[in-house]
Amino acid sequence: MSDLVVTTSHKASTEQQDRAEVWAERLAVPLVPRKGRSIAEVATDEHVTGVLVISDREPVYYEPGRQLEYFFHPNMAKVRIHNLKAGRGDPMIEAMQLSGGDSVLDCTLGRGCDAIVASWVVGAAGKVAGVERIPILAALTAHGLANYEIQPDDVAAAMRRIEVHQADYHDVLTDAAPASFDIVYFDPIFDQPLDGSPAMDLLRALADQHSVDAVALREARRVARRAVVIKQRRGSDYWEQWPFPFEIVAGGASRIEYGRLSVS
Ligand SMILES: C[S@@+](CC[C@H](N)C(=O)[O-])C[C@H]1O[C@@H](n2cnc3c(N)ncnc32)[C@H](O)[C@@H]1O
Repeated sequence: MSDLVVTTSHKASTEQQDRAEVWAERLAVPLVPRKGRSIAEVATDEHVTGVLVISDREPVYYEPGRQLEYFFHPNMAKVRIHNLKAGRGDPMIEAMQLSGGDSVLDCTLGRGCDAIVASWVVGAAGKVAGVERIPILAALTAHGLANYEIQPDDVAAAMRRIEVHQADYHDVLTDAAPASFDIVYFDPIFDQPLDGSPAMDLLRALADQHSVDAVALREARRVARRAVVIKQRRGSDYWEQWPFPFEIVAGGASRIEYGRLSVS
């Protein structure tokens, strides 16, 4: 039995119905007719936790049991790119020491906000590949990156260039060739959530919550040509468990920091 079904809005057009079929196939889950039911009724009747609703808007994933409603949004990516254009910098980009033509493996793609900023910096000559383990997150992010309408055009182009892989980063790293990306990046779910970040609370509810372990770090050091970069809460003691010299980069009043482990 699947834990998720796809359905449409009430009074679905043929076109909506066709798109819902594509989503059901993509996620390998059943497509069920809406039949006038509320989303909670669909979940109960079909014995599933989640319902993906295809309508004229963007696809929306619901978990009525947790009153959760999730859809793709590029979050702060546009503002961060605007800041970069204005010469104000970005601590993640600083920690990565990223520039045009570089390649980044973002092991924790989530909604893709960090990947979009990295993709804008590396440009068309560079490459950003993102890995997300949770199928519904990977599918919604892949769709959003490919279709979300946004201005200016260079931000849209940065989104379209990102490669999305639904996989566990342990597997992707193990299969990757040595020194195959300039930067390997992780933004794991923090042990303690940051207050006042509703968008992150939603992602957190759906995400794989494990922190970056020794196996992943070993493989990441092998795959990175220049550095492994990990995001944490500011003042985190995460770094202390490793016998490696993480260089900490934090922006002004930011509540987060980045650990950079140079490998060359
Ligand atoms: C804090 S979020 C990342 C947010 C992202 N940087 C952004 O800008 O939207 C962490 C993401 O990593 C994913 N994740 C955690 N462990 C993973 C693993 N082993 N393989 C792939 N993805 C993983 C989680 O499901 C979650 O979506």
